[in-house]
Amino acid sequence: MRSFERQFLARSIERGGQLFAANCSECHGLDGRGLTGAAPALNNPQLFGHDYLAPIRAEMEQLQAEREIEGLDEARAAEIDARLQELQAERDAFLAQIQPAIDKGYDPDQPSRLQQVGWGGPQDAFIYTTLVHGRPTSISYWPRPMAAWSQTAGGPLRNDQIQDLVNYIQNWDKGDNWTVEDLLAVNQFAKVPGEGGGAVAEGEEPAGDDVQAIVAALENITGDPVNGQSLYSAQGCAGCHAGGIVGPATEGTWTRIEEERLQDPALAGYTALEYAVESIVHPNQYIVPGFSATMPTYFGERLTVQQIGDLIAYLQSQDQPAE
Ligand code: HEC
Ligand code: HEC
Repeated sequence: MRSFERQFLARSIERGGQLFAANCSECHGLDGRGLTGAAPALNNPQLFGHDYLAPIRAEMEQLQAEREIEGLDEARAAEIDARLQELQAERDAFLAQIQPAIDKGYDPDQPSRLQQVGWGGPQDAFIYTTLVHGRPTSISYWPRPMAAWSQTAGGPLRNDQIQDLVNYIQNWDKGDNWTVEDLLAVNQFAKVPGEGGGAVAEGEEPAGDDVQAIVAALENITGDPVNGQSLYSAQGCAGCHAGGIVGPATEGTWTRIEEERLQDPALAGYTALEYAVESIVHPNQYIVPGFSATMPTYFGERLTVQQIGDLIAYLQSQDQPAE
């Protein structure tokens, strides 16, 4: 049975390799190491969460904790200090070695792509859903966006072909055996949606984070859904909310607010508008079940009240229920 499964997987990976060469390599590179300025590496220790510094970090933390014990023997304290210095030197040497990767955007203290985007599910599901839905609005931070590939989402590939591709990509995972050379071979690291500047022009006031004050100000404002849509791209909202991958799906937001969120006792007394404003300026006040607290908390400083009104008008215009 096991050998049959192995053979089945091997054939799937092989088919995935052919599909990758034909459909994906023009952006991600034939070796999956990404193409500078076009698309991030998938054959990449960061996508698989390999933490090169984990052993050093763990030993340092343990020693630092021991060092703080009151009445610690002096000889032991000296021993710990010496070892900590050694570890610090090892860390510095490693960072110097990987400097070219750091220059390309790698962050050694954020070694996991899935943590970076707040994905709590399994690795293969992250790749699978990305392939099914694409990241249509990654156009706001990449020259060409990642398209939806599955036929269910209007793309060219069948779901079994998507699975072959997932198996092919997963097969790049080296577990604990990723080397420094592998990291240095990455041409392009992934980007974090929503980083970058705000949309408040000179002479305008940011909205701030007082939900009631913003709600009151919105009463005298008509939101412009078209401007809302371009803000939704430019501010990186879409990068997280498209396809419901990192955050709840854009489609159906308003229906969900009215029919699900406001039924939650934790939100008793909220209006839909209050909830929406709070979701934007205080995203961690209420965490949508099934998601984690990864939405940036800076939008109150980066948007005006009018722009928040525009975004909400856009969300209201996207109100088909999610599939
Ligand atoms: C037109 C260029 C292009 C093509 C072709 C393309 N991609 Fe992508 N892909 C991208 C971009 C750009 C991103 C980054 C999107 C983002 O940051 O949200 C991406 C992201 C991804 C991710 C998520 C990586 C991460 O760290 O978030 C996976 C997995 C992926 N692509 C797989 C594939 C596969 C498999 C194919 C072929 C079926 C493919 N891509 C074809 C441009 C492309
Ligand atoms: C880095 C990813 C990320 C970015 C960027 C982001 N969000 Fe979110 N958003 C989330 C996540 C994750 C949640 C669910 C967890 C929570 O409630 O905070 C969420 C929740 C929401 C909700 C509540 C949705 C619901 O179904 O209840 C709204 C509305 C929202 N975001 C709007 C926006 C808008 C507008 C922007 C841009 C100005 C934005 N988000 C940018 C990740 C993001």
